[in-house]
Amino acid sequence: MRPPSKPSSTASAAFGTACGEDPRHARGAPAPRRRRAVKGRATHELVVTIDGPAGAGKSATARALAQRLGYRLVDTGALYRALAWAVSASGVDPGDPSALGAVLDRTRVELVGDRVLVDGRDVSGEIRTPEISRLTSQLTALAPVREKMTPLQRELAVGGGVILEGRDTGTVVWPRAEVKFYLDADLETRARRRQQDLAAQGVAMDVAAVAEDVARRDRQDSERALAPLRKPEGAAVVDTSRLSPEEVVERMLKVVEQARCCTG
Ligand code: DC
Repeated sequence: MRPPSKPSSTASAAFGTACGEDPRHARGAPAPRRRRAVKGRATHELVVTIDGPAGAGKSATARALAQRLGYRLVDTGALYRALAWAVSASGVDPGDPSALGAVLDRTRVELVGDRVLVDGRDVSGEIRTPEISRLTSQLTALAPVREKMTPLQRELAVGGGVILEGRDTGTVVWPRAEVKFYLDADLETRARRRQQDLAAQGVAMDVAAVAEDVARRDRQDSERALAPLRKPEGAAVVDTSRLSPEEVVERMLKVVEQARCCTG
């Protein structure tokens, strides 16, 4: 196990490959894959992707899986939310391409451990509101936004030992990941989970309204032309509707451990 004290890396959108470029040919030659011996067998550190719709349980299971494996977690949704926070704070109209482009150009988004920073300010607590959720969904349909963030996400995955979690991590960001998961759950379950998350943040909404919101985001995320939410080719599908978070993590761990020993 890698010690939990592994220093957290940061990367800014200034580094990495161009969107659509092969991540293995990233500028600045990818670091060699980390290898380690476990009970006499050589294992290597993987890139694991986790995609799926809102409320499928990706965040909690990705966090738990990262902890169990000693991997770094890259919450790509948090990076997009941070960018949306910056756009909202700037007051520009997200429908104005040149104003939006100027904000994208000057904004630096970083992941430091499990904190997300915008120009050095920790916004981790401010990016989970319904308003930022809506704006993020709108912005993630735009090419300049994805062209800024995809290379940053790839940069964070170079060298392996990473879990990428989001909507397009196994389809666009790192399609050659050794392990890809697609988590799903029925709409009612996802809406209930989302309602509980919101309640924990002090936002009271009835479950029908949350379900409508979740269904609308599902449509936006899966019907958009760019990087739509899809099951990645070769992904292990886990329906989390009737599983506890622990059961989901145990299933995923088995798949990762198998890949760790059997891919080289
Ligand atoms: O996972 P989340 O709810 O924090 O994601 C916020 C929004 O960003 C959501 O509308 C989906 C979108 N997103 C995306 O388009 N691509 C990703 N890789 C991650 C999130």
